[in-house]
Amino acid sequence: MNRVYIKTYGCQMNERDSEAVAAQLRGRGYTIVADEQSADVVLLNTCAVRDQAEQKAIGKTGHLAKRKRKDPNFIIGVMGCMAQNRGEDLLERLPDLDLLVGTQKFHRVPEMLDRFIASQKGIGPRPSTIVDLGEESGSEETIREHTEGERKVSSFVSIMQGCNMHCTFCIVPKTRGAERYRSMDSICEEIEELVAAGTREVTLLGQIVNSYGMRQIPYRSGISPFVQLLERVNAIPELERIRFTSPHPRGFQKDLVEAYGRLEKLMPYVHLPLQSGSDEMLKRMRRPYSRRRFSEIVSQLREVCPDICLSTDIIVGFPGETHEEFEDTRSLFEEIRFDMAFIFKYSERSGTKAAEMGDDIPAEEKESRNQVLLEILGRTSLEKNSALVGSVQKVLLEGPARKGEGMFMGRNPGNRKVIVPASPRLVGEIVPVRITKATVTTLSGELCLTGIDESESAVLSH
Ligand code: 5AD
Repeated sequence: MNRVYIKTYGCQMNERDSEAVAAQLRGRGYTIVADEQSADVVLLNTCAVRDQAEQKAIGKTGHLAKRKRKDPNFIIGVMGCMAQNRGEDLLERLPDLDLLVGTQKFHRVPEMLDRFIASQKGIGPRPSTIVDLGEESGSEETIREHTEGERKVSSFVSIMQGCNMHCTFCIVPKTRGAERYRSMDSICEEIEELVAAGTREVTLLGQIVNSYGMRQIPYRSGISPFVQLLERVNAIPELERIRFTSPHPRGFQKDLVEAYGRLEKLMPYVHLPLQSGSDEMLKRMRRPYSRRRFSEIVSQLREVCPDICLSTDIIVGFPGETHEEFEDTRSLFEEIRFDMAFIFKYSERSGTKAAEMGDDIPAEEKESRNQVLLEILGRTSLEKNSALVGSVQKVLLEGPARKGEGMFMGRNPGNRKVIVPASPRLVGEIVPVRITKATVTTLSGELCLTGIDESESAVLSH
């Protein structure tokens, strides 16, 4: 009864939470398996941000319940945002659940599972579902463990939990609670340990990373707590690259823009959610910035770091979105030329402010607005990627590519995936790759270990 399969839905925060749960379970003698069929326990780490994500997890649980009917000892757990969002009501819909674990209780999974298995072994009726959805002070410090003995060239590090913003469409403040920050010391210690185990790149994670430490850690000579943290991480020897996700445009001040110019490990890439390019819509979404301010941040970033790559999130079909308002989003989206974007069709979340506004944009209209933006995105990213053909990119090799013997996957400074024939001993190294081919999402090329001339070394300056 100790083979556990964890399936993760949703964002990088969820990925990281699952990784920590896996490490904690391994520490308690459980085996984490990659194949669901061979598992005695399946844990779903869920997402609640759109209805579709919840439906997927609910459907999956229903499927697993069939297996449980044949094998009563099989254990099903639901963790994370959907568990938190729907709470015990979920049990009415999914009576076969054994564990229901909230977003502040991931670290309790091993003991919950131990307890459940112990009661299963006792004689008597099926043990009742173990539910733990409460708040827990200090839980932000518990997403810290990584699996020992497993090298990850690029690692996620959680720096905070929760969100204090009030975006009207968003369920996250309900599922993740108010902002809580880890200490800088603890974050840096974790990164040092990761580096000692072979990590070369970290992505700092939080719902709104540039709120890190607000009203707790004082500004120092105009430098915000988040940028102070970046400075400290930048000073960690043998760490090569720093990324983070996601910042909010509201707190994207000069000190953060300037950090791209002076912190050599901070990669020239930022994911900056726009959501909408219409000022009226931004007001209705309670996003406290304007179209103009967003463009200003982008210009400032491009001034400090001309080759910076940008990605964003957009919602189409938010309540009341007129053709003119969508046109404002379309035009700004086209003007900025994002390298990557996640475009979402608005999904009403019960309990949010926006749910009181109705969901009046028909599905076909949402779809057609979605397609308009996807077409722009496809075109722009292909143009931008094609412009890199012939250049030499510094690629941090992460490991074997999914397909192809002898092919390896890495990323360039701008976070583009690069596929290259290489050797396993180069994993974890930053290697020069001459780009020979570009698609919308991926670059491919050849190692270029000799003969870099000066014009090329300019491309290599990150
Ligand atoms: N409907 C559609 N998309 C949403 N997002 C958040 N809430 C919703 C919703 N109700 C999107 C936002 C956010 C991303 C993680 O998910 O664009 O940035």
